[in-house]
Amino acid sequence: MYPENRLIRIKMQDWGKISEQNSHWNSNKARKIQEKEARIIIKWLRDLKLLNYNILEVGCGNGYVGLKISDYFLKEKIEFKYYLTDLIPNCIEKTKENFANLKAHEPVRFGVLDVYKMDKTLGPKTQEIIISTGFASAATYKNAVPIVSNSLKKGGVLICDFVNNFSPILFLSNIPRSISRIINNKKYAKDVNSKYYHFGKIGIKEYFQKYDLKLIDMKYIGVLKNPIVAIFKKNR
Ligand SMILES: C[S@@+](CC[C@H](N)C(=O)[O-])C[C@H]1O[C@@H](n2cnc3c(N)ncnc32)[C@H](O)[C@@H]1O
Repeated sequence: MYPENRLIRIKMQDWGKISEQNSHWNSNKARKIQEKEARIIIKWLRDLKLLNYNILEVGCGNGYVGLKISDYFLKEKIEFKYYLTDLIPNCIEKTKENFANLKAHEPVRFGVLDVYKMDKTLGPKTQEIIISTGFASAATYKNAVPIVSNSLKKGGVLICDFVNNFSPILFLSNIPRSISRIINNKKYAKDVNSKYYHFGKIGIKEYFQKYDLKLIDMKYIGVLKNPIVAIFKKNR
């Protein structure tokens, strides 16, 4: 499903190909995870008790997580606006297809957006809620975190997910790789200039805190406890 083991070698221009190879994250296996994540995200969003939700999703893939959230908000008659974005235009086309049956389209928009440019494209301190999922979600690229943080208003919320290095199946599937990932993860978490992804739980709290993003909660998804979804609040 998700090409976790190759992620650090992925160049941006490869995402189009990877999305094709992974059926634009539309497989049953991917959907199960997306549905579980959507349920947790909906609960966190509800806990915010806002009168109106203004949501930006980055790296939305096929948009299924956003669809579940939008569907729920419409059914519960909760006021919201949802902007689904991805680097790859084809993903946005798939997202539009997945949204075709949603009854009210008005609050939902779609667009191409590069997470590395989002503060310039959308303006700094403009976003209230940012969602990004998919194990190596776009918002959790190490060098994207400061940009994502700069895009959030004070008090804004980031919800994103991470590979869980300690998931038993993931760990046992390749023990040397798992150990090297844990060691490297620790190293990269300290190195602000490193280009690497966050691969797991280690160092997340400290790394995000450097960019004024306070970890509020974390939940494991699925019986294999992979991935981890987390919610952060922008302090300043
Ligand atoms: C692993 S997929 C996850 C898709 C979906 N969010 C999910 O949960 O199934 C990662 C997505 O991030 C997108 N992406 C990669 N780099 C990006 C960037 N720089 N800016 C925005 N999106 C990006 C990819 O095109 C891909 O759709």
